[in-house]
Amino acid sequence: MLKSSTPIRSGLPPGPKGSAVRGSIREFGTTLLDFLRDTAREYGPLASFRVGPKRIFLASDPDLIEQVLVRDAKHYVKHFGEGAYWQRQRKLVQPVFMKARVRSYAPVMAELTETMLEAWNPGEHIDINFAFGDLTSRIALKTLFDLDDAGDRERFYETLKFAFDIMTARLSRLIKIPLWVPTPQNVRFNRARAELDQTIQGFIEAGRARGKIGDDLLSRLIFAEHEDGSRMTDRELRDEAMTLYLASHETTALTLTWTWVLLSQHPAVEKKLVAEWQHMLGGRTPTADDVTKLPYTANVIAESMRLYPPVYVIGREATKDLELGGYRVKRGYTVLMSQWVNHRDPAYFPDPDAFIPERWEDGLAKRLPKFAYYPFGGGQRICIGNAFALMEAAIILAAVGQRYRFTVDDGYEVTFKPQITLMPLGGIPATLQPR
Ligand code: HEM
Repeated sequence: MLKSSTPIRSGLPPGPKGSAVRGSIREFGTTLLDFLRDTAREYGPLASFRVGPKRIFLASDPDLIEQVLVRDAKHYVKHFGEGAYWQRQRKLVQPVFMKARVRSYAPVMAELTETMLEAWNPGEHIDINFAFGDLTSRIALKTLFDLDDAGDRERFYETLKFAFDIMTARLSRLIKIPLWVPTPQNVRFNRARAELDQTIQGFIEAGRARGKIGDDLLSRLIFAEHEDGSRMTDRELRDEAMTLYLASHETTALTLTWTWVLLSQHPAVEKKLVAEWQHMLGGRTPTADDVTKLPYTANVIAESMRLYPPVYVIGREATKDLELGGYRVKRGYTVLMSQWVNHRDPAYFPDPDAFIPERWEDGLAKRLPKFAYYPFGGGQRICIGNAFALMEAAIILAAVGQRYRFTVDDGYEVTFKPQITLMPLGGIPATLQPR
């Protein structure tokens, strides 16, 4: 293990020579997962490479990751210039995700899952990823904006989906053409953003007009007060709402998607899981209380997020010259940390590519170094929706899994879309089998 007292060597950590991408993002994207794992394996706990003109470090030792995300966190940022703003906002948003509040969303999660199930028919052919993306998106809209009327929900859902699809595509590009350049992409993007701003502005005004806090997250944010008694501006509220929507629904959908794929490949695990549901729930959709009494379900979700972490890499930029693993991280360098790499490290997970939920029994999570397993990140910027996501995944899994199992089409092979989250390429075609 490399400690921060290590003397600083001159030069860079070892790593692949030349530029990793030769300017092509797509090329980098398609091979990113392999590239990260191979680089860590070949060059050790701290590797270095170039992406175009940018100098990147890859930290894959849990202790070095802890140094970046926890011990030296104040000297690293996610994006330059946002530090003070982020801190103020996080303070305000954090209470909205307190345990009791999060639990209050369980009935919405259950109800919308039931609605989806009512529309399904045995033998139907579906795309698992699409179906669960749709469901978690509806749950996000209801919990974020309290969109109740089915027609309203549908209308807003379509607008949001359109706009967010364009934005996600833009976000996943490393090189962005400035938005004022009227490329067809940018025109579409600006139009979508304006439409989205207007839609969310409508929610904000409706929330304010009600004059009191409603059940939705946005309404809690509208009335939340900073220490000096001030409230968020409309612009801040719109940004926060967008961040929450973007950060919440796709990641949770991916957790579910990959879990179903793994279950379809591991019938013995599925059998044990169904037995737990039958015993504890007897066909009922789980409540927030039930979720705490489903240990095997929790282990299956943990193991699924180990193998297919929805967020598979995170990055920080150094705000001043720092030491890491005996090397100099210069101001402006990026340090990457990859869940994909760490979660499959045989030093902590014997037989690392195998799906074995039982490995989480007997408190493995407590025995591991903090950053051997970190699907929700860690330190001051740890995922704010961690508890929300785990409860949502367990409720949906148990509600759906007691009624259906999925047979993934013969010949389906896991391949990934080059995006910021671990998306399957081309969806996951499957047939609904009644249980
Ligand atoms: C399984 C589902 C989820 C996974 C795997 C996940 C993962 C993560 C990770 C790894 C980070 C840290 C990124 C970094 O350090 O750069 C993060 C941040 C965040 N997540 Fe999640 N997330 C999930 C669900 C959610 C949900 C449901 C919400 C909201 C309801 C949410 C809201 C956020 C927000 C707001 C941040 C930024 C926090 C900050 O920077 O202070 N996430 N998430």
